[in-house]
Amino acid sequence: MGSYKDIIFERKPPVAWVTFNRPDKLNAISLTLIEELGDVLDKLWNDEEIRVLVLTGAGDRAFCAGADITMFQGKSPHTMFHIIRKIVEVTEKMEKFPKPIVAAINGFALGGGCELAISCDFRIATDKSAFGQPEIRLGLIPGAGGTQRLSRLIGLGRAKELCMLGDRISAEEAYRIGLVNKVVPADKFQEEVQKFVNRLAEGPPVALKMAKYACNFGTQVPLDVGLVLESGVFGILFGTQDMVEGTSAFLEKRQPKFFGK
Ligand code: COA
Repeated sequence: MGSYKDIIFERKPPVAWVTFNRPDKLNAISLTLIEELGDVLDKLWNDEEIRVLVLTGAGDRAFCAGADITMFQGKSPHTMFHIIRKIVEVTEKMEKFPKPIVAAINGFALGGGCELAISCDFRIATDKSAFGQPEIRLGLIPGAGGTQRLSRLIGLGRAKELCMLGDRISAEEAYRIGLVNKVVPADKFQEEVQKFVNRLAEGPPVALKMAKYACNFGTQVPLDVGLVLESGVFGILFGTQDMVEGTSAFLEKRQPKFFGK
């Protein structure tokens, strides 16, 4: 669906799928790919039928092997600043996107690929996947949030190890250090991703959005401010029909059905 060049966009309510589609380049990030991902986020922002977005990679080798290194050649520092900002702006848009985003990782998630994955809310990886921030080996550092989001997600020590040594780690190791939520056998990947996504799609959309915002933004301020923010959004949810439905279903001993109102 949609006429994109470097991604495939499939809208299958309640879930939308974006597949990075440059498999011969291990789905490396082109400017087109990042602009197209940004465009999909805009299109889905207020799409009430879509409750979850999944990002994945075409082929069976990579989620995304990072920024396309060919675009680094011959660029001035100022031009590169603007290019990297475009990628960062999309990662920020992902954090503000009002629905859960799941990275379904089927192979390499390196450099900008790892940075896109950690800008998602959840990461499910095949046992064949590998993670890393290899930019140091190019005389660079991660430029799309690696030093910042990894440090927050897995702690400074582990983040520095990845960013300053540039080693690749296995999916099992990524799970052990909290970089991914779940590791699944490659032959069960689709099934496991679908199961995980279905659970999110059945959840109460407004509360899911508020939980995402409270986690993402409440942790960027002092604890007492974050706690007030949490109390505020907790209170807001008492204005939703889904809260009435959720509590009634509990008392009536039935499964709730949430509508996002
Ligand atoms: N940018 C541009 N092209 C890339 C790429 C990237 N980040 N990652 C892979 N490719 C291309 C390769 O150049 C190759 O293209 P070619 O067939 O036209 O030569 C193709 O994808 C397949 O990759 P290849 O290196 O041959 O596969 P491999 O199995 O030997 O190695 C990797 C896989 C992921 C280890 C290796 O491709 C790699 O190190 N990629 C770069 C990762 C990186 O540094 N990312 C951060 C960028 S800032």
